[in-house]
Amino acid sequence: MSQDKLIIFDTTLRDGEQSPGASMTKDEKVRIARALEKMHVDVIEAGFPIASTGDFEAVKAVAEAVRESTICGLARSLEKDIRCAGEALTAAESSRIHTFIATSPIHMEMKLRMTPDAVLEQAVMAVKMAREYTDNVEFSPEDAGRSETDFLCRVIEAVIDAGATTINIPDTVGYNIPHQFGALIATLRERIPNADKAIFSVHCHNDLGLAVGNSLSAVLNGARQVECTINGLGERAGNASLEEVVMAVRTRQDIFHCDTTLDTTQIVPCSKLVSSVTGFPVQPNKAIVGANAFAHEAGIHQDGILKSRETYEIMRAEDVGWKASRMVLGKHSGRNAFKSHLRELNIEFNSEQELNEAFSRFKELADKKHEIFDEDLHAIAADTNWSTENEFFKLISLKVCSETGEIPAATLVLEIGGEEVPAAATGGGPVDATFRAIETVVNSETRLQLYSVNNITSGTDAQGEVTVRLKKDGRIVSGQGADTDIVIASANAYINALNKWNKIQDREHPQRGNV
Ligand code: KIV
Ligand code: ZN
Repeated sequence: MSQDKLIIFDTTLRDGEQSPGASMTKDEKVRIARALEKMHVDVIEAGFPIASTGDFEAVKAVAEAVRESTICGLARSLEKDIRCAGEALTAAESSRIHTFIATSPIHMEMKLRMTPDAVLEQAVMAVKMAREYTDNVEFSPEDAGRSETDFLCRVIEAVIDAGATTINIPDTVGYNIPHQFGALIATLRERIPNADKAIFSVHCHNDLGLAVGNSLSAVLNGARQVECTINGLGERAGNASLEEVVMAVRTRQDIFHCDTTLDTTQIVPCSKLVSSVTGFPVQPNKAIVGANAFAHEAGIHQDGILKSRETYEIMRAEDVGWKASRMVLGKHSGRNAFKSHLRELNIEFNSEQELNEAFSRFKELADKKHEIFDEDLHAIAADTNWSTENEFFKLISLKVCSETGEIPAATLVLEIGGEEVPAAATGGGPVDATFRAIETVVNSETRLQLYSVNNITSGTDAQGEVTVRLKKDGRIVSGQGADTDIVIASANAYINALNKWNKIQDREHPQRGNV
């Protein structure tokens, strides 16, 4: 039995969203936050409220929707950021403000242009101000992994005195090596006189592929909160991946004298949800959540597994939420069977209207494809959520001609802000012609950065899931669409990205410039 609780702080909706192309809408954030709550994640960092009105609204919506997890908002050590975060979190059952300022010589000199004393003073001011809103305040000395230990000790002691209850040590640029990072946590806990008044946390980036290793080394040295993201999403090479940290600690209870209270069977569903919302696929050999994580190819391994599972498996696939793909419904299944399968898959809709829409999509799909699998239901749910989010652009109809020796042509009708607009174009292929036709009436001036198709299940009648990524003015958004016809799926993915573009306004980046 482990002695201590390890707090899981998920930052998929904040640091994860900082990955280029991973921007999420308010409704998507709420959907992911609900899945994290269901997994019993302790703290959900829902966003950076000062970044834009959209971010503020998203944090507010998550704070209203989630009751079981603590909801956290990020704020630089600036009055306007802290007041904005405090306001966004008003409706939360349990709230936390996470405030930060850089403490490394390079960040203080080059980015903040502030002296160490001024940084310390501002950190203390920020924590005191955050305490006006909540007694749950986290402070991060940004780039702690490259900060001077003496200065870190001074700052941390002062912010604990000012009321910080969690001290988070970020390896912002992923520069640290596990034994060194663990030693840093041990030193801080030993040298700071009031260290016992706060919980030590870590936040590791994966630039050298060491984010999980560094986080675990910190846990061995007394850190009792780990900041992480689903699928390791995050800035540049990403953050420590939640599933790897949680399962390492759970699987090696002989080493870690602490454990999380997460329901690990929610890991795979949550990973799939984040992947489908962001359009970032999970690599097949990714630990825990990759499609091959529990697949045994070599005959000798298969033989061993059949004799005794422990010969080659250190975890059980079902414990992290893997289920065998199974045919669940067919064209004769009724609304009740559909509803009860959705419930089994933990798929929820916000209204009866959404459920009805999903059911009619299911019927349409069942006409084209005889067997409907869990994965198909997930795609229907995602599509329904996208299409009911008051979208500005909607695909009404599409006709594409593709013939050997002829130039492919697309004719379509789009609904734009409630008005139906026809469009047509030719292109290098049916998808190109479709995208060009959309652009003749939308004129988004975005550039297509990525186009990919994945089959959701096997067989030629499977739905294709299309992801597109569009770029404009240095910002990237992605969109997804699923259909048995991949040209329709492509059109829907493109339109989904355009709709996201409309919702995601100009944002300030938390770590770019400051003060
Ligand atoms: O990487 C980092 O330093 C951060 C801070 C805001 C904690 O994301
Ligand atoms: Zn970070």
